[in-house]
Amino acid sequence: MVTIESTTCPVNTTVPAAAEPGSDFAIDAVDLTKVYKTGTRANDGITIAVRRGEVYGLLGPNGAGKSTFVQQVLGLKKPTAGQVRVFGVDAGRKPDAVKRLIGYLPQTAFAMRDLLTDEALYFTARLKGLSHADAVAQRAELLRTFDLEETRRQAISTLSGGMQRSVGFAMALLGRPPLLLLDEPTNDLDPLRRRTVWEAIRNAVTHEGAACLLVTHNVLEAEHVVDRVALIDAGRVVAQGTPGALKSHVGDSIRLEVWLRDGVSLSEAQLLRLSELGVLRRPRPRQVTLLVRPEGVGATVDVVLREIGPAALADFHVATASLEDVYVELVGRGIRDTEEPPDDSGEPGRAGELGHGGEVGELVAAGAAGMAGSASGTGN
Ligand SMILES: Nc1ncnc2c1ncn2[C@@H]1O[C@H](COP(=O)(O)OP(=O)(O)OP(=O)(O)O)[C@@H](O)[C@H]1O
Ligand SMILES: [Mg+2]
Repeated sequence: MVTIESTTCPVNTTVPAAAEPGSDFAIDAVDLTKVYKTGTRANDGITIAVRRGEVYGLLGPNGAGKSTFVQQVLGLKKPTAGQVRVFGVDAGRKPDAVKRLIGYLPQTAFAMRDLLTDEALYFTARLKGLSHADAVAQRAELLRTFDLEETRRQAISTLSGGMQRSVGFAMALLGRPPLLLLDEPTNDLDPLRRRTVWEAIRNAVTHEGAACLLVTHNVLEAEHVVDRVALIDAGRVVAQGTPGALKSHVGDSIRLEVWLRDGVSLSEAQLLRLSELGVLRRPRPRQVTLLVRPEGVGATVDVVLREIGPAALADFHVATASLEDVYVELVGRGIRDTEEPPDDSGEPGRAGELGHGGEVGELVAAGAAGMAGSASGTGN
């Protein structure tokens, strides 16, 4: 359903026409810094290189400077210091040339909202230089892929939030640009649409040779899509590498997830005892997670069962550490997502979807010395 066939338009496996010859990287940012007129230092010496044929994830808390970085890559914001090149072209000096190489999905509302969906897609395709026939063919393909055929004659502004997001994403894909800059593409999307987006990104990168810079708060899902990732905090890269390499920051830790039954709460004394077993977090009042050393799993399960008691447990999971655990470990603050209120409303058994619920990173205590030791030495 989601495969975007490449029958109607050439694929981007060669150096794009506007690129500087010999440019190895889709994005090559060196010491990129932006200080706004207000004095806010949005990013501060960011050095990131994104290769062709890879998905590069940009993760970090609200206000970390991710969107600022994306807009600098696009040439929309000039760097205060440093430089960013897109396929060898300086984005600060030649923003128009750079824009032609990029499919951009902004974080917030985009242009053409008053047009009908299929008109907006068609005009965007023509503005990107596609012929009438290619514009019509790619539009049909994208409407089908993103399940927008029934609403194609509706103004974008009258579509649901998730559908509008899908249209924006489809616009970014039109013309099969060699670089996709996607600022939170899965915001507002239901699980099926999210999956479609992840698969379309993978397809563009794997089969069409595009590069993709992906900003997202869906850390757990992103882990399966990104080739490499940078964690940004307060405008600085605090770690970058493959998800596997980053996970070595938390060693071979194991995550225990505990969901409490309705009406059950833990006392401060119980939380303190649990925190002595590993890194304890409370994403929601009814949920407790513990990051522990593998050799401590058995003992931890015993203590959890003794402290909380089986009757108080709604659900219980044991899993290997995720990229989200790395995120919390290194950034040390919560990811706040807009899809659900940060309350008790999440259902048990959603261990794979923590990133879509309230506050994930309430670091209550980092009790286990072994854990702290394994998390030291963040790469840069
Ligand atoms: N035009 C602007 N003028 C002044 N300050 C700005 C401007 N745009 C962003 N900022 C500030 O720069 C910092 C980084 O903002 P940015 O939008 O890049 O963060 P972000 O990582 O994308 O956050 P989020 O996850 O919430 O989207 C914030 O402190 C923000 O308030
Ligand atoms: Mg942003």
